[in-house]
Amino acid sequence: MGTQTVIITGGATGLGYAIAETFLHTGANVTLNGRTASKLETAAQKLQHPDRIHLVAGDITDSTFVPKLVDETVSRFGRVDVLVNNAGIFAVKPFLDYGIDELDQYLGYVRGTFALTQAVVNQMRNQGNGGAIINIGTILTFHSSQLSPSSAPIMAKAAITAMAKNLSFELANDKIRINTVAPGIVQTPLHDEIPQQTLNSFAKLHPLGRIGTPQDIADSVLYLANASWVTGVTLPVDGGVAAGGDGLNPLRQAA
Ligand SMILES: NC(=O)c1ccc[n+]([C@@H]2O[C@H](COP(=O)([O-])OP(=O)(O)OC[C@H]3O[C@@H](n4cnc5c(N)ncnc54)[C@H](OP(=O)(O)O)[C@@H]3O)[C@@H](O)[C@H]2O)c1
Repeated sequence: MGTQTVIITGGATGLGYAIAETFLHTGANVTLNGRTASKLETAAQKLQHPDRIHLVAGDITDSTFVPKLVDETVSRFGRVDVLVNNAGIFAVKPFLDYGIDELDQYLGYVRGTFALTQAVVNQMRNQGNGGAIINIGTILTFHSSQLSPSSAPIMAKAAITAMAKNLSFELANDKIRINTVAPGIVQTPLHDEIPQQTLNSFAKLHPLGRIGTPQDIADSVLYLANASWVTGVTLPVDGGVAAGGDGLNPLRQAA
């Protein structure tokens, strides 16, 4: 396999950053996206491979921005081999407290993921030798939690997870594979509002006894990028939550 070129949305922090670092270690070229240019520049400095990193600041929920991400990647590196649909937001809230405008905000990520995936598939088809697309979903789509009422963000995650399964058939003839990683709770800036002690206490919700690290997820993304006989899969990377069913529900366990 030659040098891979990878587009990572939401790549300045958390999972996206670890995914970028992991691909850079393999010698890949990486296009890093996020809304905040300064955060991207800080990330690029830490990642230390200016010759193989291209920064494209912009909002993936803006359909006029999305094609730029692919165009700039092709101008800089000549091709796209892997897309990681990682950018996302998440806020825990009771169902009746969500405004319809908030639901629209989450659904903007579905629209953005759809548009970017279309642009990348078009590019991969023109290249003619396949490719890999990996979505970052969540285990909460399959295992609800009393600790995380999150109907609106879960609707968005469920949509991109279903899209991956559906597209895996449609794109198989093109050797374009599309899979989803479904993480448990992972230590990232997404949880900055949660006190560290509370976050640490979530370790016991995962059978393997700890919350995840960004590297746990990055390893699975790298695997799926190169697993040439795997498509249409939703891979739980969740410390064992998916194996049980009630792991994320301490109240039910106690009942
Ligand atoms: N951490 C977890 O426990 C966990 C569990 C399951 C799933 N996930 C999913 O993992 C993904 C990564 O989250 P994370 O935990 O790594 O959190 P994070 O550190 O907050 O990373 C999210 C990144 O996405 C960028 N972003 C947000 N909206 C964007 C947009 N519209 N366009 C472009 N970039 C955007 C953010 O940067 P800017 O604000 O500068 O744009 C940020 O760097 C998310 O999709 C999240 O839902 C996380």
